[in-house]
Amino acid sequence: MSRVDLQSVVKTFGERTVIEPIDLTVDEGSFTVLVGPSGCGKSTTLRMIAGLEQPTGGRIGIGGRDVTSLPPGERGVAMVFQNYAIYPTMNVERNIEYGLKNTGVAKAERRELVEEIAETVGLTDHLRKSPDQLSGGERQRVALARAMVRKPAVFLMDEPLSNLDARLRQHMRAELVDLHARLGATFIYVTHDQVEAMSMGSRIVLMDQGRIMQDASPLELYTRPANTFAARFIGSPPMNVIAADQLGPAAAPDAHFAGFRPEHARVAPWGEATAPGWLRLAGTSVASEYLGAETVDRVRLDSGEPVSVRGFDGHRPLARGPVAVHVPDARLHWFDASQARIGAAQDGTSGAVAASPAPVGIPA
Ligand SMILES: Nc1ncnc2c1ncn2[C@@H]1O[C@H](COP(=O)(O)OP(=O)(O)O)[C@@H](O)[C@H]1O
Ligand SMILES: [Mg+2]
Repeated sequence: MSRVDLQSVVKTFGERTVIEPIDLTVDEGSFTVLVGPSGCGKSTTLRMIAGLEQPTGGRIGIGGRDVTSLPPGERGVAMVFQNYAIYPTMNVERNIEYGLKNTGVAKAERRELVEEIAETVGLTDHLRKSPDQLSGGERQRVALARAMVRKPAVFLMDEPLSNLDARLRQHMRAELVDLHARLGATFIYVTHDQVEAMSMGSRIVLMDQGRIMQDASPLELYTRPANTFAARFIGSPPMNVIAADQLGPAAAPDAHFAGFRPEHARVAPWGEATAPGWLRLAGTSVASEYLGAETVDRVRLDSGEPVSVRGFDGHRPLARGPVAVHVPDARLHWFDASQARIGAAQDGTSGAVAASPAPVGIPA
């Protein structure tokens, strides 16, 4: 029983509301990622679940129990921080055992637990070492192990990998996903890194300015962004979002913004005709980034809007100059004046494109 429920949870600091009333249900056993730009309220939300911060309003439930006014130690959660607080004067074993402090677990049982957890996170050979003899990844595992010895039903992690170098971070991502699968516990994981969110989460809660912008699986978030914020936050480079009026009759009714993923478009020579079902946006090539497996071309549209196009067909550096970006109608996403998703041709839900089987291209 480790479902986590937030009901109309609000947080204000002085005059400032940093968490608008939010409702969120984190399923038992899920790997849920809270992601969003710095300052959007991820840590505050996590700290309220942990009991380190008291909500200004609303209720928090864990495993069906109202924990809103319970202290952290009585919530059945464990928190792993970015700055893993390891005690430098204690060896690994004692650091892990420290997680059992004040739990009244007998010494023999403590030893057994520590050994079991050390085995799980791969620290068995390091138990006698002092923290300064460990690598960054090993220290992170000590912090994890310390959280794990209490066998919490819910793990709360606040950017636990952000102090590690890129290689190690990638390795630890996979380890955490594997650990989650083995423990079967509920993980709530905070990061500002969309790649981390996409690669680790079974479910992603995207936040901005104290609000939940979308709550969905990685696939749903990528293929059906609920608004232009989600469209622009996820993906590298993210979705291109441009004014819809320049698409003329191809635009869905009520569409104010059109979006397309960089990998769905192509850059063509200025005069090249569009294929049926594609539309054409005139612009100027401003830069080409060769990244090995792909090339990212940057184009400034005649409307002044910058867009990115990803190509996978080897390195063809684009000369600066006039080009056209060709986009399949079926790959366009539509957003209304409030920047909320209207639909896309591929959903079969958008107005114009879905309604007219022969899409209209923009004349050159
Ligand atoms: N103790 C505090 N007092 C005042 N403001 C705070 C406090 N903690 C966080 N904030 C503010 O709340 C907002 C959300 O912060 P935080 O939850 O840390 O964001 P994130 O983790 O997404 O970067 C920020 O604007 C931050 O400055
Ligand atoms: Mg934070």
